[in-house]
Amino acid sequence: MEKSTLLIKPDPECESRWLAAMAPYADTVAVRLWPEVGAPAEVDFALLWAPPPGLLASLANLQAVFSIGAGVDNILRVPDLPRDVPLVRMVDKSLTEGMGEFVVYQCLRFHRGFHQYEAQQIARQWKAWPQTPAAQRRIGIMGLGELGGYAARQLCALGFTLRGWSRRPRAVGGVETFAGSGGLEKFLRGCDIVVCLLPLSPQTEKILNAKTLAMLPPGACVINAARGAHVDDAALLEALDRGHLKAAALDVFNEEPLPKGHPYWRHPKVTITPHAAAFTLPESAAAQVVENIRRHRRGEALSNLVDREAGY
Ligand code: GLV
Repeated sequence: MEKSTLLIKPDPECESRWLAAMAPYADTVAVRLWPEVGAPAEVDFALLWAPPPGLLASLANLQAVFSIGAGVDNILRVPDLPRDVPLVRMVDKSLTEGMGEFVVYQCLRFHRGFHQYEAQQIARQWKAWPQTPAAQRRIGIMGLGELGGYAARQLCALGFTLRGWSRRPRAVGGVETFAGSGGLEKFLRGCDIVVCLLPLSPQTEKILNAKTLAMLPPGACVINAARGAHVDDAALLEALDRGHLKAAALDVFNEEPLPKGHPYWRHPKVTITPHAAAFTLPESAAAQVVENIRRHRRGEALSNLVDREAGY
């Protein structure tokens, strides 16, 4: 069978890792690294995170677009994304496990008050906080897909009481689930810690706003590892400042890198990580991309197809 041509546009620091990860599949896939596109009509598949304007429209024979990230909002928002070309999201073990670690870490941190001990050490303050049993801590996960479902199972295994919210009804073992706009308030009212892992779509933009943050119980903590645009920043800062919310751990921001003058940087109740909660590792993801290319060539359906209407 003829080789397929795959154009990859990774983060610049990952270029050599993607090339090395694809090398064992050289019999199936000829790799081109953006911006060395070569003859655009020869490109069969594209693997990228955020397509530059005009790139996708220039690839006249494109058969599928693979996202390097779990979220596909960066690709869906490009006006020249061809209508009839399938879009595939990344489901990568390293990404899922990395996100599980991030969520478990931040939840344990807030659950046991380690964020307070971090501040106390700077102030040389010796003060112990009471310990609450995990079963009495209600953690709510927004988004019960690949990442949210995995994080929920990890937290269940630690004994926490889990609830989950998604736009469409979903069942996850051991998790009390809520769905749709009708289920959101009931869900939020029972979250001591809420974790946002939703896909970004017009329906989920600014889903954490003044009204919904006010539905959280007093003293709740917010963790956002999805997209900055899920949060109304002014509303979150207001809820933290007036003491309604205890703390927030934010990995994603409306503007990235977070501008140096942003109030989040120096806010005593906010912990920042630089969009680093979890990464797709080329070493584990390459095999999955190649397997999907092989499926497509055999005329089989692609795995992990994005529903463009839903936006994930
Ligand atoms: C990262 O933000 C991703 O979508 O994987």
